[in-house]
Amino acid sequence: MTEVSSALGLAPDQVRTVLESASLAPSVHNSQPWRFRLLPDRIELHADMERGLTATDPDARELRLSCGAALFNLRVALQGLGVRPLVTLLPGQAAPGALATVRRGGVLQPDDENRALLRAVPARRTNRRPFFESGVDGRQRHALVRAAELERSWLHVVATREDVARMKYLVRRAHQIQLGDPDVQAELRSLTGHRPGAGDGVPPASAGFRPQAQDEWAFRDFDPAAEHDRLPGKDYESNPLVLVVCSHYDGPLGELQAGQAMQRVLLTATTLGLSASFLSQPIEVRSVREELRRELGGTLVPQTVLRIGFSSPVPATPRRAVTDLLLAQTRSVN
Ligand SMILES: Cc1cc2nc3c(=O)[nH]c(=O)nc-3n(C[C@H](O)[C@H](O)[C@H](O)COP(=O)(O)O)c2cc1C
Repeated sequence: MTEVSSALGLAPDQVRTVLESASLAPSVHNSQPWRFRLLPDRIELHADMERGLTATDPDARELRLSCGAALFNLRVALQGLGVRPLVTLLPGQAAPGALATVRRGGVLQPDDENRALLRAVPARRTNRRPFFESGVDGRQRHALVRAAELERSWLHVVATREDVARMKYLVRRAHQIQLGDPDVQAELRSLTGHRPGAGDGVPPASAGFRPQAQDEWAFRDFDPAAEHDRLPGKDYESNPLVLVVCSHYDGPLGELQAGQAMQRVLLTATTLGLSASFLSQPIEVRSVREELRRELGGTLVPQTVLRIGFSSPVPATPRRAVTDLLLAQTRSVN
C-alpha cells in the first residue's frame, strides 16, 4: 500500500482531504475508475482501465467522464485550501499515460461559489427516488446551464413536449437493447446487490424503487431482488427536468471537459437543493447515441443525460480507501 505523501506544497493530511473529495465523484455503477500519482510539483490523474466496464462502456467514454468529475472535485478541494489549480488535460509526454496533471498556479482566496461547491461535494448523491411535482424554475435552470458553460461544455435542455417524448423513446430503446446483452447485465450484477464491506458498487439502499413496465422513463434495475415500497400502477413522476451534457469535441478531450461540466452541474444542483440521477442508456448504445447526436443538430456530442428535480434524501454510496487509489511515485519530477 502506498502512503499519502505531500504534493503541491500541501501536507499529507491536506493531500488526503483533496483526494477524498476527488473520490466522492460519481462514476458508472460506482466503479471509481481513477488513480492518482503524487509528485512534489503535481498531482496526476490516471484512468484505472482495470475498472472499466467494457460491455457497458466499450469506448471508455463514461470512464473518462467519471475521471473528469473526479478532477472537478479535486480542483474545488484545492481551491478550498487556497491553491489555484493549473490543469493540463491530456499532458502527453510531460506525464505519460495521465488524463490530466494539476499543478499549483499560485494562491487563491476561495469565494462564495467555491465554498458552496465544496460543501456540495459530500452532500451530492445520485437520487433514483421519484421527484416531487414542484418543478425546477428558470433561475435554477439558468444556473445549471451556466455551470456547464463555465467548463467549456454545453447543457441541452430537453424542453418541448415532443422532445421529452422522443427522449423517453430513445432511453427505452437503448434500455431494451442493453437488457438483451448478457455482458452488460453481468457488469451491472457484478457491482450491485448485497456486497458486504465493498468499497465500490451500488448498494440496495441506493438502488431506488424497483422499475415497472409502465414507467414513463426506463430506469436501470439496480436491485432486482428488491420489492421496496413502490405502489404498483403509479407513474413514477410526471415531469422531471431532463438535460443532456454535451461536449464540443468528440474524443478524450471532450469527455474530460464534459465530465468536469457534468460535475459542476451536479454540484450546482446540490447547492440549489435539487436532486439528480442519470439516464445513460442512450449514450452507451452507440446506434442510439448517434441518433441523439443527429437530433441535437450533429455538432454537439451528447455525453450524459441527467434527470433533475426535488426529492427526499438518499444514503451515500461507499468509496474505496484513498491509499488504494495511489500510483507509485516512480517518475522523476520535470
Ligand atoms: C457517466 C455516468 C453514468 C451513469 N449512468 C447511470 C445510469 O444510467 N443510471 C443510474 O441510475 N446511475 C447512473 N450513474 C450514477 C452512478 O451509479 C453513481 O454515480 C454511483 O453509484 C455513485 O453514487 P453517487 O453518485 O450517489 O455518489 C452514472 C454515473 C456516471 C458518472
